[in-house]
Amino acid sequence: MAGEFDGLVAAVTGGASGIGAAIALRLMADGARVAVLDRDVSNPPEGALAVQADVTDDASVRAAVDRVLQEWDRLDVLVNNAGIGAQGTVADNPDDEWHRVLDVNLLGMVRVTRAALPALRKSPSAAIVNTGSIAATAGIPQRAVYSASKGAVHALTRAMAADHLAEGIRVCAVAPGTADTPWVGRLLERADDPAAERAALEARQPHGRLVSAEEVAGAVAYLASPHSTSTTGIVLAVDGGMQEL
Ligand code: NAI
Repeated sequence: MAGEFDGLVAAVTGGASGIGAAIALRLMADGARVAVLDRDVSNPPEGALAVQADVTDDASVRAAVDRVLQEWDRLDVLVNNAGIGAQGTVADNPDDEWHRVLDVNLLGMVRVTRAALPALRKSPSAAIVNTGSIAATAGIPQRAVYSASKGAVHALTRAMAADHLAEGIRVCAVAPGTADTPWVGRLLERADDPAAERAALEARQPHGRLVSAEEVAGAVAYLASPHSTSTTGIVLAVDGGMQEL
C-alpha cells in the first residue's frame, strides 16, 4: 500500500523513547525512512537508523545530520522532539538549571534545525515539527523553567515558519498534554503515592486520561504530511481539551 511518506527521509530527535519513538514508528509505518537522533540509542525503535547525538553539542548534531545524509542523501522531515523536564519555581531554580534545560529544550532545536536546513531546502516536501507542551500555556505549578522553555518553543515555531515559508519549508508544533511515556513513569516512581499521583494527572486532562504517545505521533504525522501543505506556524494541541475547555 502506498504510504504518505514513501521515498521520504525523516529525522526524529529524542526518537529512542516515548513520544519520539512513537513518531518514528508512525512515520515508518507511513513509508518514511527514519533516523532517530538520541543521546541514548541503547533501545531504538525497530527499523529506524539509530544515530547517537547530543542536541546540546553542536559538533555531535552536525555529525548526526551528516550520518543521515550519508545513508540516504536526503532529508525531508525533521521532528525536533528531544526534551528534558525540570521541577521547581523561579525561587528554587538557580541559573545553572535554566541553562541546562534551555540548552536541550530550546537551543537543541536551534542546533538541529541549523544543521538540517541545507538538506531540507532541497526537499520538495520539507516540514519541521517541534514538540512543545501544554505547559507553555496552562500555567502548571512547579514547572517554571520547563514551561518557559516550551513557551519559547511555541514562539520559535512561529518565527521559523515565517522565516522559511518562502524556502518551501513548513514549520509547526504539537503541544501534548500529559502523555503516557517513560518520562511520566519516572515522575510517578518518585511520587510518595504513585497511584494517587497518576490519578491526579489523569484528572487534570479534561478527557480523564493521559494522552498516548501514538496520539501525539498521529498529529505529528499529519503536520509533516502532504495533507497539511497549507498549514504552517500552528501549534496543534493534543491534550484532551486541556487548553480549549
Ligand atoms: P522521554 O524521556 O521518554 O524521551 C525523551 C528522549 O529525548 C529520550 O530518548 C532522551 O534520551 C532524549 N534526549 C534527552 N536529552 C537529549 C539530548 N541532550 N540529546 C539527544 N537526545 C536527548 O520523554 P517523552 O515524554 O517522550 O518526551 C518527548 C518530548 O515530549 C519532550 O520534548 C517533552 O518535553 C515533550 N512532552 C512530553 C510530555 C509528557 O507528558 N510526556 C507532555 C508534553 C510534552
